[in-house]
Amino acid sequence: MKKIIVVFGTRPEAIKLCSLVLELKKNHEFKTLVLVTAQHREMLDQVLSIFNVVPDYDLNIMGVNQTLFDITSRVLVETGKILEKERPDFVIVQGDTTTTFATALAAFYLQIKVLHVEAGLRTYNKYSPFPEELNRKMTGAIADFHFAATERNKSNLLKEGVPETNISVTGNTVIDSLLWVKEKMLKNQSGYTQLDALDLDRKIILITGHRRENFGIEFENICNAIKKIALTYKDIDVVYPVHFNPNVRKPVNAILAGIPNVKIIEPLEYEPFVFLMIKSFLIITDSGGIQEEAPSLGKPVLVIRNTTERQEAVEAGCVKLVGTNLENIFNEAKKLIENEEEYIAMARIENPYGDGKACEKISHRIKDL
Ligand code: UD1
Ligand code: UDP
Repeated sequence: MKKIIVVFGTRPEAIKLCSLVLELKKNHEFKTLVLVTAQHREMLDQVLSIFNVVPDYDLNIMGVNQTLFDITSRVLVETGKILEKERPDFVIVQGDTTTTFATALAAFYLQIKVLHVEAGLRTYNKYSPFPEELNRKMTGAIADFHFAATERNKSNLLKEGVPETNISVTGNTVIDSLLWVKEKMLKNQSGYTQLDALDLDRKIILITGHRRENFGIEFENICNAIKKIALTYKDIDVVYPVHFNPNVRKPVNAILAGIPNVKIIEPLEYEPFVFLMIKSFLIITDSGGIQEEAPSLGKPVLVIRNTTERQEAVEAGCVKLVGTNLENIFNEAKKLIENEEEYIAMARIENPYGDGKACEKISHRIKDL
């Protein structure tokens, strides 16, 4: 029997790994354990409860306004202790958070094999996204096997000298989770209390934003662009479920609170969030995961970043990189609001990130490792 420990800490890792945990647990040749660092607390718990995943270990490391030093050192030391005790055959990590990198490093120090899910994303700009670009590169340097979401991600790894035999292209597990939650949504008869304060019959622009490299003036530009959109188009509601990070909350509240058609709400559970994406006309975000989910839902996305490692959806025409300049963000939103042809051209269903079978493929491949 192969012992596997799946490790994650933040909301997006949880969304992308819970469906894999459920899949691995179906296979009785595996003993699958779950270790959460709780780099995020509330936002992680929201996901665990929706997927009904109960961690075997919970390190509960989150501190308010934590630094990269705090997260890296706590995860390295505390995860190391559990890995040393459990001595699994494989550690699975996902993506590019500091939990991902520090866990891979802990496993490496103990000479335990690391399997990296969502491997091979690159912008080739070490400060954008920060610190994710180097987190994923360093995790890739440690990993023994790489599950790439797309052929492009695979070719990035090949260019870096990873042997082809150590890479498998599976699609992104986020699509598995998205389809799983959509299925659950269809059975929901009672609606979502978290959305009670919203008028879902109005036209909605959905906003999320949290990237470290945008903090400061760029985040203020983004908020001012959102303000201009809301003040110009009073028939549209701008809905913003705000990340708990104090560096995000401060400018959002300072610039956007009190505008009648800007609805500032708490982070949503995954199921109501997907429901709201489906209800929305347009999504403006710096999120990685949303760039992958929205094309499957046929929702246009304006990405408020200067780089993206997710070029597939940009090339498919459903996602546009608009940077952090106030006027640029406003003008790109204006085009989609006022020009139906522009809107229709972007609002197409595309599935560059897979068919929802990534977890099955990963589980099969692990059997043969
Ligand atoms: C982290 C990841 C980022 C990922 C993002 C997803 C790193 C360095 N960054 O960034 O790659 O895209 O998660 O959201 O790994 N907080 C709470 N409750 C929560 C979550 C966060 O209060 O449930 C607050 C805390 O004050 C915490 C702060 O937000 O210190 C920042 O959290 P942190 O994990 O350091 O950074 P994120 O910006 O969330
Ligand atoms: N999401 C959610 N509730 C919210 C906002 C986002 O469940 O209020 C989901 C979203 O569907 C996506 C993931 O969280 O799957 C993205 O997380 P985040 O933007 O925090 O991180 P990133 O993807 O940028 O790493």
